Amino acid sequence: MTDQDAVSQGGQTWKAQSYDDNVRFVSVYGEAVLDWLGAQPGERILDLGCGDGALTVQLVESGATLVGVDGAPDFVRAARDRGIDARLHDGHDLPFESEFDAVFSNAALHWMTDPKAVLSGVARALKPGGRFVGEFGGHGNVAAIVTAMRAVARRYDGDPGLIFPWFFPTPDAYAALLEDAGFVVDRMNHFARPTPLPTGIRGWLGVFCQPFFDQFGDRRETVIDDVVDAIETSLKLPDGTWIADYVRLRFAAHRSQ
Ligand code: BEZ
Repeated sequence: MTDQDAVSQGGQTWKAQSYDDNVRFVSVYGEAVLDWLGAQPGERILDLGCGDGALTVQLVESGATLVGVDGAPDFVRAARDRGIDARLHDGHDLPFESEFDAVFSNAALHWMTDPKAVLSGVARALKPGGRFVGEFGGHGNVAAIVTAMRAVARRYDGDPGLIFPWFFPTPDAYAALLEDAGFVVDRMNHFARPTPLPTGIRGWLGVFCQPFFDQFGDRRETVIDDVVDAIETSLKLPDGTWIADYVRLRFAAHRSQ
């Protein structure tokens, strides 16, 4: 994969600095799912969608050996700067064969819209009995934001195909996909996690919804204003804090022998 054809997942371009400025909370919240993984010294673990490696370095502290993969060159560079063995790979096309004790993933699987391809690569990458533990957006995630984008896209004759580049499954649907790929599901939680946004909704929209807003060219800022206006009542507190309507799907599974 070249830097050029790997720029994005879901049409996104990822910049490590912008991510750090606006949505650092993504890796901070990810710390909770590390407990479900229970990494052990000497284990070999793959971090699928490692981003800038902020969580991967915490896993290294457990004494495990980590490999990170991400589809975005800027993230791979940032993770390598933290000392991680980070590699540029599309999560739909993992190149590993029975070499990991565990695969971990935080806030990345919802960008990979062909879960069957992802899960078959994860199963292949794991040793028999190996664990797959992760968290990502579940059904209902960012529903208020998406609803506002859809309404505003209609007003400006936008491409509806750019509104929803994500995969937010129900627990039942994801459990079935895991089982079809040869996993046994050990635990799964689907829960609302209202999430304060440190740089407000504009920072979030700017980092995560670039292709949607870029389609409007010089009307981009007007369209953003309209989306912000439409969701203010649902997501902005009286003190001015913006809370994103996140819903998480957290799971632990293992590859059957
Ligand atoms: C999430 O972490 O749930 C998420 C992040 C960006 C866009 C959509 C969802």
